[in-house]
Formats: sequence, structure tokens, C-alpha cells
Amino acid sequence: MNAIEADRLVKRFGKVTAVDDVSFQIEKGEIFGFLGPNGSGKSTTIRMLCGILLPTSGTAKIMGCDVNAEIDRVKPLIGYMSQSFGLYSDLTVEENLWFYSRLYLPARTAGEKSEETIASLGFEPYRTTLAAQLSGGWRQRLALGCALVHDPDVVFLDEPTAGIDPVSRRTMWDYFYGLAEREKTLFVTTHYMEEAERCHRIGFIWNGRLAALDSPYRIRTGFNAHEIVTIQTVRLNEAFRRIRLLPGIIDVNIYGEEIHVAVPRAEEAIPRLRAVMEAAGLSVERLERIQPSIEDVFVSLSKIM
Ligand SMILES: Nc1ncnc2c1ncn2[C@@H]1O[C@H](COP(=O)(O)OP(=O)(O)O)[C@@H](O)[C@H]1O
Ligand SMILES: [Mg+2]
Repeated sequence: MNAIEADRLVKRFGKVTAVDDVSFQIEKGEIFGFLGPNGSGKSTTIRMLCGILLPTSGTAKIMGCDVNAEIDRVKPLIGYMSQSFGLYSDLTVEENLWFYSRLYLPARTAGEKSEETIASLGFEPYRTTLAAQLSGGWRQRLALGCALVHDPDVVFLDEPTAGIDPVSRRTMWDYFYGLAEREKTLFVTTHYMEEAERCHRIGFIWNGRLAALDSPYRIRTGFNAHEIVTIQTVRLNEAFRRIRLLPGIIDVNIYGEEIHVAVPRAEEAIPRLRAVMEAAGLSVERLERIQPSIEDVFVSLSKIM
């Protein structure tokens, strides 16, 4: 049985098709990353999977239960951390956890689960701190705790790491792996491309359509619509401006200290690129074909689709 199943989900808001015929199956214990730029339909998909939003058509299932027909069975199975999660800022850490656990559990179990969450997320020193007084990273962690406090099998996390520092982000990912090891299923949206590599599988959504769905490795290595050449030079911006004007170039992007050039054939493009650089008096520190990164693939897919 799949933990999460989307079967031809469609959501229209008036003339906007926010989610357009999206299907996937996610296994128990999987960390599934759902990536896409702002407005591509990630949150809308999550809301349909949680039963918060009725699909225009198609079905969503959690642990084999139809989300809309059997919402009462689905509710205790899922945890949901929304993008702008509603923590009660005038309640303390333990009061927030208690409140959320009580939505699902009888008082005694709620107490036990709140305590477990305080321990596993390291909230002991902040137990009586008001949510409003927590730093961004800890607030986000408390939001995660509130989504997990009733010990659901399937967890939907909508941009859980948005805006938090790299160390907190790292801690959160370690925690996700721990959950997956305990057979929990995680559905995580993010717009940080480097987080894509941390997921077991990823889906890339673009304008409401699923453009790719596979493991990060297979997405990178399976992409063959064109080839990527990397260039490193001291005067990056000048090189970028010149290369962009060349005929026969599909796309040019700057990534940190490199320029990635998408071309039909690297072998044919490399001597041409070298000639242009040399003619302009630009140093060439590196110029060669590389395997596309996840980001290269997603940028390319968004141009092709
Ligand atoms: N409740 C709503 N009413 C009307 N349009 C909406 C609503 N929710 C989302 N949309 C639109 O649907 C599209 C997808 O939005 P969303 O799912 O929030 O994207 P993402 O989470 O990927 O940023 C956007 O064009 C957005 O404006
Ligand atoms: Mg969103």
C-alpha cells in the first residue's frame, strides 16, 4: 500500500489551473521533495492531499483511504505544517504542543506525546518560553513539533526550512531522516535546490504540471535534452554578457563562480566558447562539459515545458 497517492489531481481557481493533472505514489518511509518556483501549485497540492481543499477532479489517498470520502480516518494519520504556520505566540512551547496534541488525543496520551516531542526536538530549555520569543529557527522547529505531536504516519511540510539559518536547516533535515527511519512518510516542499539532493525522490512542478518525478540521481543523469558546459573565469559578468549573445546557445546562467551554458552539443560548442573568450581577452580557468545539476535540469525543464 502507498502512503500517499495522487491520482490525476486537478484544482482550478476560476480561470487559473493551479494543479493540472498531477499523479504520483509515495511509499512508506520515503522523503519526497516537492519542488517548484513560487505559484507553481505546491501548497495547493498539499492542501488537496490533506483534505483541506476539495479537488476540482481526481482523488487523493492516504494509507489507502480516500481523503475526501474518509476524512475522519485520514485526519489522525496525517500531520500538516502549513507555510505560515499558526503557532499561538502568546502560549509557551509546552502549551502550543499540548494544544495541538489535544486536537487529536485524549488528555493522558496528549501529555505523553507532548513530553516526547519536547525531548526529541530539544525543547527542554525552552519549555516555558513564549512562542513569540523564540528565534526563527526554533519557532520553525516548534511548528514542526506541533505537526508531529500526535505521531502521524504521514507528514506534510510546506517549506519547513524557509528563511532559517543553515545550521537549523541541517538539524531539521537530520530530524527528517530520523522520522523516515521510523517508517514515517515525509512530503516536503522547498525552493532550495540543494535540499533536492537530500530527498529520496523529488517531483518538480511547474505551472501546475508535474515536469519530473524520480530520484535526484536519475533526474540529473537521465536528462538528455541538451548538454551543459561550465566556464570559470575572473570576469564572470562580462563573459556572461558575451556568451548570451552567441547563436546556437540554448541558455546561460550564473551559478556562484561558474557560468553554465546549455548547448545542443558540448563537443561542438567548447571550441567556439573558447574562441569567444580568448578574443575578448577573458581568462579561461575552466571550460568543459559537466553533468547537469538538479538546478540545471529544472531550469531547462521550465524552458521546455
Ligand atoms: N485560494 C486561492 N484562490 C485563488 N487562487 C489561488 C488560491 N490558492 C492558490 N491560488 C493560485 O494557484 C496557483 C498556485 O498557488 P500555490 O499552490 O500557492 O503555489 P506554490 O505553493 O507552489 O507557491 C497560484 O497562481 C496562486 O495564485
Ligand atoms: Mg506554497
